[in-house]
Amino acid sequence: MTGTVPDLKEQAKKKAAVAAVDEHVKDGMILGVGSGSTIVYAVERLVERVEQEKLKVVCIPTSFQAHQLIVQNKLLLGSLDTTPILDCAIDGADEVDSDLTLIKGGGGCQTQEKIVASCARKLVIVADYTKDSKTLGEQYKKIPIEIIPLSHVPVSLKISDRFGGKTQLRMGKMKAGPVVSDNGNFIIDWFFPEGITDWKSVHEYIKLIPGVVETGLFVNMAEMAYFGLSDGSVKTV
Ligand code: 5RP
Repeated sequence: MTGTVPDLKEQAKKKAAVAAVDEHVKDGMILGVGSGSTIVYAVERLVERVEQEKLKVVCIPTSFQAHQLIVQNKLLLGSLDTTPILDCAIDGADEVDSDLTLIKGGGGCQTQEKIVASCARKLVIVADYTKDSKTLGEQYKKIPIEIIPLSHVPVSLKISDRFGGKTQLRMGKMKAGPVVSDNGNFIIDWFFPEGITDWKSVHEYIKLIPGVVETGLFVNMAEMAYFGLSDGSVKTV
């Protein structure tokens, strides 16, 4: 049975991404393109539709990865400088609760993702079934927080003093040094304790700590989520 679970998950990501692109992308749109592995399927579908339907869609990247995907697939690349109001942003998530509160930043891109999402008339999330939770923390146990490098020790202390849990500076593969974000910053992963329900207050508290650039908590931002399920269907919330 080795290999069955990852295949199902990949299928689920693709189903969710295709459904969201088919339902939300229209000709003439300014579209935010998220980051992560599920977005690769959304871009694939977008490319198919652009070729088949001759759609004109301007794509605003949320990360270096998204920028590369847009350029390599010869999609129209835009920027917030010239198009600061987007019709829609499609992005992945690390976990989504039943109120559509999100944990993002597994790939360290939450700051640009949040800026782009905040400029979009709607944020649509695409994910596989493992990201669908009633409450945050059922699947994903940490909140990624982008910070100015010199602040990583005091910020970590302030978060664990106030809320408990454990923080970890995200290290790169081989542990040769910290992961550096697209903005030249570090990422702290906060392994939060059980029982938190007011994520808006948690986000607001952390965001005000000097040195914090952005949290991976997206509260009241997503309008809709598409989850690919293991049976091949797609659930929308
Ligand atoms: C990157 C993100 C991604 O959207 C999130 O990690 C989901 O990625 P994937 O689609 O690979 O599961 O927030 O910072």
